[in-house]
Amino acid sequence: MSINLNTTIGGIALNSCIYNASGPKCTTKEELENIGKSFSAAILTKSSTLELREGNPSPRYYENDLGSINSMGLPNKGYQFYADLAKNMRQYNKPYFVSVAGLSLENNLTMLQDLSSVDAIDAIELNLSCPNVPGKPQTGYDFERTQHVLDKVCQFDQHTLGIKLPPYFDLIHFRQMAEIINQYPIKFVTCVNSIGNGLVIDIDQEQVVIKPKDGFGGIGGDYIKPTALANVRQFYLLLRDDIDIIGSGGAKTGSDVFEHILCGASAVQIGTQYMKEGTSCFERIEKELKNLMLQKNYTSIKDFQGKLQSIK
Ligand code: SIN
Repeated sequence: MSINLNTTIGGIALNSCIYNASGPKCTTKEELENIGKSFSAAILTKSSTLELREGNPSPRYYENDLGSINSMGLPNKGYQFYADLAKNMRQYNKPYFVSVAGLSLENNLTMLQDLSSVDAIDAIELNLSCPNVPGKPQTGYDFERTQHVLDKVCQFDQHTLGIKLPPYFDLIHFRQMAEIINQYPIKFVTCVNSIGNGLVIDIDQEQVVIKPKDGFGGIGGDYIKPTALANVRQFYLLLRDDIDIIGSGGAKTGSDVFEHILCGASAVQIGTQYMKEGTSCFERIEKELKNLMLQKNYTSIKDFQGKLQSIK
């Protein structure tokens, strides 16, 4: 039986539904080339800012068996670097997505305007949810602000535009955010960024494990899979049919990816596990997903996407 994992994001074709999350190992040219050579279905950059940033002081990333905590503070090469790389990325024959996380609305508008003239960029993922820049709240938790930002960024023609949201925890917040997003020509929504401002503790040292913000940072990995799945499910049910949902959070095996798709995801990003395992994770997870689909007699992700059942 031939199984294919083809999918589309905002009309862009991907030959598999598994690719890297913006964050781990997607900052430098070499890292992005490695993703290009791997089984990742797309190449997604680290969230970029107007200027190059060194980010927060180290240690700023820590992992254990349950997941990760990070307070990177958006270290990146500056958006122009990712624009200049776009043509080079064409050789990998897969979509090239640039993540944008301006430190102000004005910065976002400047970057989006400039990037819109770069043909070799297939889509922009606008990050409205970084929890790690001191003094900069997560836009996605401020509904009025989010509406204002979307009003402005959607005012001019640009690439396929998606947004990366923080996790929500209350049903009213899912509804309020979905009502806002449904007013705009957004093509995809990535659910979720890390759970912001968690705390992981080293019990031997009686100390926090990362330096910035007295140890508070974004939580990823197994810790967050149920929250990520709930966000994928809610936004799949609440957003317009033409908005694709990208799952992100706790996917480290083929069955995790299956769960995200069952909740409604069109594709799934790998973050913490990619950081831990490197690019070989994409091929392994793809194989595991195909094996699972074979056991279930599914030949395409459309056979089960969004079909999560309730208990009658
Ligand atoms: C970081 O660079 O601090 C992580 C980015 C994010 O969580 O959006």
